[in-house]
Amino acid sequence: MKGCLVLVGLVVAVLVGGGVGADAGSRKATRRRLVPAVFVLGDSTLDVGNNNHLKGEDVPRADKQFYGIDFPGGAKATGRFSNGYNIADFIAKYLGFERSPVAYLVLKSRNYLIPSAMDRGVSFASAGAGILDSTNAGNNIPLSQQVRYMASTKAAMEAAVGAHKASEILADSFFLLGIGSNDLFQSTPKTPADVTALFTVLVSNYTAAVTDLYGMGARKIGMINVGPVGCVPRVRVLNTTGACHDGMNRLAMGLATAIKSAVASQAPKLPGLSYSLADSFAASQATFANPQASGFVSADSACCGRGRLGGEGVCMRNSTLCGNRDAYMFFDWVHSTQRAAELAAQALFHDGPPAQVTAPISFKQLALAGMT
Ligand SMILES: *[C@@H]1O[C@H](CO)[C@@H](O)[C@H](O)[C@H]1NC(C)=O
Ligand SMILES: *[C@@H]1O[C@H](CO)[C@@H](O)[C@H](O)[C@H]1NC(C)=O
Ligand SMILES: *[C@@H]1O[C@H](CO)[C@@H](O)[C@H](O)[C@H]1NC(C)=O
Repeated sequence: MKGCLVLVGLVVAVLVGGGVGADAGSRKATRRRLVPAVFVLGDSTLDVGNNNHLKGEDVPRADKQFYGIDFPGGAKATGRFSNGYNIADFIAKYLGFERSPVAYLVLKSRNYLIPSAMDRGVSFASAGAGILDSTNAGNNIPLSQQVRYMASTKAAMEAAVGAHKASEILADSFFLLGIGSNDLFQSTPKTPADVTALFTVLVSNYTAAVTDLYGMGARKIGMINVGPVGCVPRVRVLNTTGACHDGMNRLAMGLATAIKSAVASQAPKLPGLSYSLADSFAASQATFANPQASGFVSADSACCGRGRLGGEGVCMRNSTLCGNRDAYMFFDWVHSTQRAAELAAQALFHDGPPAQVTAPISFKQLALAGMT
């Protein structure tokens, strides 16, 4: 599988509809911010344009048609691996913002980092990025570098408004972290010992990033755990039956479980930290089992792609494009449609019952933590 998947998407979809209520949809007028700003770290599921500012032939970029064909306000390829908004946009929306904060490299190039950091937040997410620096090395901003960019953002905020004000903003802000899928395709662990060794380094660097963010003053961290990467069209197409790849899903499930238990034992050692960890397997289970119930005609094929299941080629100008994008769970061979991202974000904010895909609290409860 080495090199097979460069951009592994989050494959969460709705478990229960309509969990978000008043903040959902486009009712701008009623929007109320739950947090002062949002800071986003992660991979292609969250990237809103950082990779467009990286140099290199092999950098994954969603900067051409048909990406962005449904982008709100006018078709535009913004760097999002989606036909419109991605899940970072919807999470930001449910937190009271118009969409995801702008990409760090865009803000830097426009000399607008500080105003954005103070008022909306910053996105460091980069397609192809992994927990490890070695994952797709040279063609993305790895997690460790995203964390360093956050540290320099914090330093710039302190220089602008002083340490006290900066730490107030950061403590109330929502930090969104979604990464890990890309790492699973870099190494192909053969033995149980290989798997253990891989998980050990991944978990150790993941928790190190959480500790670093905490050290910078983050007190609300929402995490999206790795999901069923064996179910994306690009992987399904490898099997003549179009079935999910069980081995990949088992590996991802193992990592998700390891991350969950590591974060659960880490958090109590970080006083004042609240967190929410989303279970992407639980979130997508219902949709894969019954796509129609979530309003999809397809949960196994790409809307924009080539060949069987749309899973034989990237989404490009000359690809086949489906008619009703909202009826597909996948836009390209790896990434969610705007509609699937919206449903997934709703599930993360949903408190349950009957079910909650986040633990120990929902994203909404996390946003409201410490507020009176
Ligand atoms: C793990 O994280 C540290 C600190 O962020 C970083 O310096 C290091 O390169 C990372 N290790 C790997 C293997 O990516
Ligand atoms: C293909 O999928 C079927 C289930 O539909 C499974 O039994 C089989 O093992 C898969 N083949 C490979 C090569 O993974
Ligand atoms: C589509 O475009 C790509 C890149 O421009 C090209 O390599 C490919 O051959 C084209 N495919 C078809 C079916 O025209």
